[in-house]
Amino acid sequence: MNIAVAQSGGPTCAINASLVGVFKEALKTPEIDAVFGSINGIEGMIKDELMDLKLVIRTNEDMELLRQTPSTVLGSCRYKLPAVETDDEVYKKIHENLTKHRIEAFFYIGGNDSMDTVDKLSAYLKSVGSDIKVIGIPKTIDNDLPVTDHTPGFGSAAKYVAATVQEIIRDSSVYSIESVTIVEIMGRHAGWLTASTCVLRANDEIAPHLIYLPECNFSAEKFLEDVRSMQAKHKAVIVAVSEGVKLPQDSKRPVAVDNFGHEYLSGIGKSLEQLVKDHIGCKVRSIELNVMQRCSSHICSKTDIDEAELIGSEGVKRALAGETGKMMVYKRLSDVPYVITIESAEASAVANKEKFFPRRWINDAQNDILPEAEKYFLPLIQGEVKIAMKNGMPVHFKLK
Ligand code: F6P
Repeated sequence: MNIAVAQSGGPTCAINASLVGVFKEALKTPEIDAVFGSINGIEGMIKDELMDLKLVIRTNEDMELLRQTPSTVLGSCRYKLPAVETDDEVYKKIHENLTKHRIEAFFYIGGNDSMDTVDKLSAYLKSVGSDIKVIGIPKTIDNDLPVTDHTPGFGSAAKYVAATVQEIIRDSSVYSIESVTIVEIMGRHAGWLTASTCVLRANDEIAPHLIYLPECNFSAEKFLEDVRSMQAKHKAVIVAVSEGVKLPQDSKRPVAVDNFGHEYLSGIGKSLEQLVKDHIGCKVRSIELNVMQRCSSHICSKTDIDEAELIGSEGVKRALAGETGKMMVYKRLSDVPYVITIESAEASAVANKEKFFPRRWINDAQNDILPEAEKYFLPLIQGEVKIAMKNGMPVHFKLK
């Protein structure tokens, strides 16, 4: 038998580690012959753009480099399968291509939208009597997938964001004048990544002094009041804000959306910077961490990368055991010592759904994170990967 794997949605720096997990497990499994990589997610399965991965990932060194390479080596997509009742052409095409290449299991590494594909495709294949298995391997820096304790890619993004905010704190505190520095952090409508900046308190940082999540009520007036009261205590005020936080006036503006109807979010940092300029008038700067937070692998979390590889290999085992229409999930057994197991859940329980940051870990004023959240975040950012370097720079694996 052959298998195929694809990557989908926004990049992370652990998504290639999951690909390595799938690939290595296939190498260990005598009944698996070829491992095909589908280019640009499910689009590659539709267009029959597949690559024999054994021809391009040839050595252990290749696998090590791939593990430390951020983003998606096979490309990505934000392609939504139509409802099968209205249009089954694309499903027929995928089935035809899977059959043509003797692919008996398909692994889709992605987030909530990609699990929609896992759910729909597995249901279609079952409905036409096919025995081809479809398994979802989670990933997203947003950490917003239901059922799983956390998502591959999140720990590394959280480590990068916290380390960067710590550096921003050092830089912002050098002058004697008052200043406000606003850091805008990704995560869509879930505040996990922004909230994770609270881990800096474990290293005796007080900042970020204000943390705003999309899960909370937000207004310009309250923000300015919060900043003013922090300025009474701190010369340099540091603010962490989720990209999903909206000012009422911004909610009315038309915005571009992707194929799943998600708005392209960004700009709250700039809007808050303008507010501070107009109403407080001190030195103010906004910093959008932008794609760096999802593709910076030089300070990735070893825990995250190791787990991402493991969950990929567990996915292969589950498919061979006959499971389909499932997404692999982490179950946390304890925080200290940190112990997880890997199980599977129905992809339909994750598809198109979001898991929000818990209200019980947000303070009453809705502008900070409570210390209880630290025990959730800290294990996820532990450990450093020894990054292979060349000419003083990290080496990335590239498909030739
Ligand atoms: O879902 C991951 C994510 O990086 C979000 O945090 C962000 O809002 C979105 O993707 C950006 O989408 P795109 O990669 O299409 O610009």
